[in-house]
Amino acid sequence: MPRNNPLVLAIAGFGTVGSGLLKVIKENREAILARTGREIVVKSVLVRDLSKPRAADLPEGTILTDDPKVLVNDPEVDVLVELIGGIAAAKTLIADAIKAGKHIVTANKALLAEDGHDLFALAEEHNVHLTYEASVCGAIPILDSLKQNLAGNQVQSLVGILNGTANYILSEMTTKQLDFDTALKAAQELGFAEADPTLDIEGFDAAHKLCLLTRLAFGVEYPFKDLPVVGVSKIHPKDIEFAREFGYRVKLLGQVRNVDGKIEAGVFPMLVHHTLLIARVGGAYNAVRLEGNACGPIFMHGQGAGDLATASAVMGDILTIARGANPNNTGYVKQVPPLADILAPEDATSKYYFRVMVKDVPGVLRDLAGSLAEEDISIAQAIQKDGTETTAAVVFLTHEARAEAVHKAVEGMKEKGLVLEEPVFYRIL
Ligand code: NAP
Ligand code: HSE
Repeated sequence: MPRNNPLVLAIAGFGTVGSGLLKVIKENREAILARTGREIVVKSVLVRDLSKPRAADLPEGTILTDDPKVLVNDPEVDVLVELIGGIAAAKTLIADAIKAGKHIVTANKALLAEDGHDLFALAEEHNVHLTYEASVCGAIPILDSLKQNLAGNQVQSLVGILNGTANYILSEMTTKQLDFDTALKAAQELGFAEADPTLDIEGFDAAHKLCLLTRLAFGVEYPFKDLPVVGVSKIHPKDIEFAREFGYRVKLLGQVRNVDGKIEAGVFPMLVHHTLLIARVGGAYNAVRLEGNACGPIFMHGQGAGDLATASAVMGDILTIARGANPNNTGYVKQVPPLADILAPEDATSKYYFRVMVKDVPGVLRDLAGSLAEEDISIAQAIQKDGTETTAAVVFLTHEARAEAVHKAVEGMKEKGLVLEEPVFYRIL
C-alpha cells in the first residue's frame, strides 16, 4: 500500500468522542489505509485542561494544546475535527478553520441546528467539506443516506429514537424499574449524555437532530426555536406500567411528516405498540424509520451514542475527505434552505393516552368521558386502576384527535374540578 500523501488532522476535543476517534484511528489503521491509500496523521489535539487524565493514548509526536491557534494556523493540517461541543467557541473555531482553508468534520448538532447557516455558506465560499454524520444517531449512516442513496426520493415521513440517553433511561426504567436519577447517572458514566444533560432529558438534543434531519429529508428549515419539544424528565413510572398493560412502550420520538404540503414536526414521549420495531429499540440504541415515495419504508438501527460508535461516523466523514470527494454539505444546491411551511402544532392529529387522577366517586368516569366528548374526542379503550380507598387513576386511549381538542378537554376536566393532579397525556404512534 502506498503510504505517502497522509491526511493530516487536528482534533479539537479529547473527551468521549475524541478519545474514541483516537482509538479507532489506531485500531483500524490498516483497514483505513487499504480503503483510501492514505495514512491518517493526528498532528494536534485541543483541550481545555492539559493536566487531565485521558481515556486514549496520544500518538507519538502529537501536540496536546489548549490554544486553538495551534490547530487553525498550522498549514499542514488538512482537516479540523470539532469535538468540543457547545455553540460559541465551536463556531469561532470552525469559522476560523474554514477561512484557513481546512475541511471540517463535526459531531455538533446543537451548533448546526441552531446556527448552521453562516457556517454552511462559509464552507461553500471556501469550497471545503463541513460534514456532520456523527451529529445524528451516532453510528447509523442516516445523513449520508439522505444526501446520497435516498436523494432520489420525496420523503413523506420520518420518525426516530434520536437520543441515546433518553432511550437508555426509559429502557432502564421499563425493564429494571430503575428510578430516573439512577438511570441518568449511569448514562452519564457511560459517556452517552451531553455535557449539559438537560439537553438530553428535556428533548432538546433530539430536537437539534430533528432539525438537521428535516433539512436533509425535506429541504426546508424548521427553526429550532419553533419546534414543539417535550422531554422525558416528567415521565412517571406509573405511565410506563399502564402503557405496558395496554401493550405499549413509552419512547422519546422525533417525528416529521408532510401533511398535505405542510410540515408537522416535534419531539415527544409517545406510546409505541410493542409489535413495532421501534418499540424494541433498547438502551442507548437509536433508530430511524422513514418513508420515501420511491424507496417505501426504511428502518435503520444502531448505537446512537458512545465513544467508538460515534467515532465510527466521524471516521466515515474523514475517509470521504481522504478519498478526495467533492463537498456535499447540505445535500442541496442551495446551502440555505427555505423556511418550512409549518403545520400549526394545534392542528396536528394523533391518537392519545390519558391518565387522570380522580376522586373515586360515582359518575366520575362519565364526567371525564364527557369532557373528551365535548371536544369530539372518541375513546378507544378505558380502564380505572390503582385505586386507594378514595382515589383512582383513570386511563383512556383515544382515536385520532387534534392537539387543540386535547388541550381543551384537559382544561375542561380541570374546570369541572374532576382531577386531583395535572392530567398526563401522550401521543400514540
Ligand atoms: P466531552 O466528553 O465533554 O468532551 C469535550 C472535550 O472538548 C473535552 O476534551 C474538553 O476538554 C474539550 N473542550 C470543551 N470545550 C473546549 C474549549 N472551549 N476549548 C478547548 N477544548 C474544549 O464531550 P463528548 O461527549 O466527547 O462530545 C463532543 C461532541 O460530540 C459534542 O458536540 C456532542 O454533542 C457530540 N456527540 C457526542 C456523542 C457521545 O456519545 N458522547 C455522540 C454524538 C455526538 P477537557 O477534557 O480538557 O475539559
Ligand atoms: N447525548 C447524545 C445522546 C449523544 O444521548 O444521544 C449522541 O448524540
